[in-house]
Amino acid sequence: MSTATLEAQQPGASASDAIQSFTVTFLIRRFDPDVDTEPRWQDFDVEMYATDRVLDALHKIKWEQDGSLTFRRSCAHGICGSDAMRINGRNRLACKTLIKDLDISKPIYVEAIKGLPLEKDLIVDMEPFFASYREVQPFLVATSTPEAGKERVQSVAQRAIFDDTTKCILCAACTSSCPVFWTDGQYFGPAAIVNAHRFIFDSRDDNAQTRLDILNDKEGVWRCRTTFNCTEACPRGIEVTKAIAEVKQAVMRGKP
Ligand code: SF4
Ligand code: FES
Repeated sequence: MSTATLEAQQPGASASDAIQSFTVTFLIRRFDPDVDTEPRWQDFDVEMYATDRVLDALHKIKWEQDGSLTFRRSCAHGICGSDAMRINGRNRLACKTLIKDLDISKPIYVEAIKGLPLEKDLIVDMEPFFASYREVQPFLVATSTPEAGKERVQSVAQRAIFDDTTKCILCAACTSSCPVFWTDGQYFGPAAIVNAHRFIFDSRDDNAQTRLDILNDKEGVWRCRTTFNCTEACPRGIEVTKAIAEVKQAVMRGKP
């Protein structure tokens, strides 16, 4: 790691206002299906500031060193969920991982999330993930008709029951950190259960039992071994394991 300083350009700025930069080494697991039979690690040295994110490093590498580096990203602000990846062995969003929070005295390892088919570099095929998501019917099914011109009323307490699981951005960090999912790609996985939870516990929804029956399958909630990897991985701070436990209880006792 080497350091350099950038003098602040503001009028009246002093040397103490200088911003320090660092050379950070990234080890990125590359895979080009047209050339490689196996993934390989490639290192890149990148000049970074403490407030940069890992996503900034990937941009710098792609724009300045190797245009073939392939990864997904869109919003760059933790909203779209497209840049989940393994950074130093932990699932995180590249756009929410600050360089200052990593140990830059050692190389930073970046690789694709696990358990989904690797397509190229940091990109996996998300279709199996979204197939499970679609299967739990992640939409409101309301069979009753509200009074003409009226909304479906819900109390603050009723809304609070599923507030946590409304925050999901479908990044797959939870599902791809789950050891059960790694060994059995048929398991619905935490994200699908979180999104089922969001509607099962919605007082306006009339389709909870259908979702509970779907998740009472051999590849459903009972595959969860409560390892908490999913909760630790979730960049939205959703209590994923707790949500899965609540769905298990609802399978046994019905919608509360
Ligand atoms: S529950 Fe969290 S980790 Fe899982 S997909 Fe949703 S936002 Fe991502
Ligand atoms: S780029 Fe959208 S969540 Fe990171």
